[in-house]
Amino acid sequence: MKTRIKNILREKPVGQPVALAGWVRTRRDTGSFSFIEINDGSCLANLQILADEKLSNYASDIKQLSTGSSVMVAGVLQKSPAKGQDVELQASQLTVIGTADPETYPLQKKRHSFEFLRELAHLRPRTNALGAVSRVRSRLSYAVHQFFQERDFVQVHTPIITTSDCEGAGEMFIVSTGQEKNKAEHFFGRSAGLTVSGQLQAEVYALALGDVYTFGPTFRAENSNTSRHLSEFWMLEPEMAFCDLQGNMAIATEMLKYLLNDAMSNCPEDMQLFDKFIEKGLLDKLRGVVEKEFAHITYSEAVDRLEKAKKDFVYPVKWGLDLQSEHERYLSEEVFQCPLIVTDYPASIKPFYMRVNDDKKTVAAMDILVPGIGEIVGGSQREERYDVLEARMIEAGIELADYAWYMDLRRYGSVPHSGFGLGFERLVQFVTGMANIREVIAFPRAPGSAPC
Ligand code: 4AD
Ligand code: MG
Repeated sequence: MKTRIKNILREKPVGQPVALAGWVRTRRDTGSFSFIEINDGSCLANLQILADEKLSNYASDIKQLSTGSSVMVAGVLQKSPAKGQDVELQASQLTVIGTADPETYPLQKKRHSFEFLRELAHLRPRTNALGAVSRVRSRLSYAVHQFFQERDFVQVHTPIITTSDCEGAGEMFIVSTGQEKNKAEHFFGRSAGLTVSGQLQAEVYALALGDVYTFGPTFRAENSNTSRHLSEFWMLEPEMAFCDLQGNMAIATEMLKYLLNDAMSNCPEDMQLFDKFIEKGLLDKLRGVVEKEFAHITYSEAVDRLEKAKKDFVYPVKWGLDLQSEHERYLSEEVFQCPLIVTDYPASIKPFYMRVNDDKKTVAAMDILVPGIGEIVGGSQREERYDVLEARMIEAGIELADYAWYMDLRRYGSVPHSGFGLGFERLVQFVTGMANIREVIAFPRAPGSAPC
């Protein structure tokens, strides 16, 4: 049975036999020995293997080992006299599983740029940084479930193929067999697309089970080639019955703090790597977010601040226009220097399902903006009043018949309810400090780009 390096380094069973398997990072020969650094992906650290010339395949295999080859090693763990490591493995057997031609293996010892690595989506998880991102992402995903399960939220698997464009922005990818000649021939009897959000379906379950969440892939055919947009991304969407905007903001804030804490406590080595090499001061930033209250202003106050700012923005600022990333970042990075919740946006720039405020001009929306990223969470209280919702849908040009099921939720036992969407990759970006969103998802899909 092989042991993972993470466990070996945690338990340090000195004097005990150990077997492991992994990929060679480096090999160094000195006299009658070779030192081989192995990484098996379980943690950032490598384990140093000592291979002695007495091993039967020393000259034939071990001295030929190059970066990227895969090996299985058995031996006895011993204390290491070398600096920077406590233990090393004295190999009694080292088997080469797969070689990697050093002439062509693209991941050499030097540091590669993330742009270069993006072209190697199939090999980049073998690098320190991308391996660390993968582990932190996995941990954050686990923590998301833990947070909601601990609070008795029920996970709902909402559909990936859907006939409703939740956000109403016309950014759906259409699902087609490629054979349809007319509407009647659509595979589903009508036009369907990939989901842009599971919210509307999550609302159905919230109005039966109380507190629910959906967490899965989401697709948007928006032509945004930025460091914060993907065509396929993961979104977490909790939805809570008997919950207003205040309750919604409270749970979103608690969740964000919980997730940051979880990553810092459970991935300390990976987080230190990010702090040292990716974003200096990252850990202090995250600790600050966990400890401080989030700032809170209304959209109207935000516009006021932006209009008075002594700064040249590319996009205009005016009441009624949506906030752009540069505005969001200015507010969270320069004005408040911490996460910021902006509420009560103009109804005209927000989707039909958001609850209309008493002023009839704004809706009970909330976006959470964080330094370096901008919008990380978008949510709202939902319109639970049948007549108001109907009027909003007509205004938005929505075919009411297609949403009869959604309207039924307001006809039968309607309740105030709220929810939000957390862009999971934006969270991973915020936690790891990675500048580009394409580094925090295994196989990024963006306009003009879908390798693998
Ligand atoms: O603000 P959005 O569009 O909200 C919704 O979809 C709601 N239905 C959520 C809800 O209330 N249940 O998207 C939510 C979040 C954004 O704040 C952002 O973090 C992320 O999803 N997001 C993207 N992330 C990566 N690439 C994209 N193209 C994204 N579009 C949105
Ligand atoms: Mg939004």
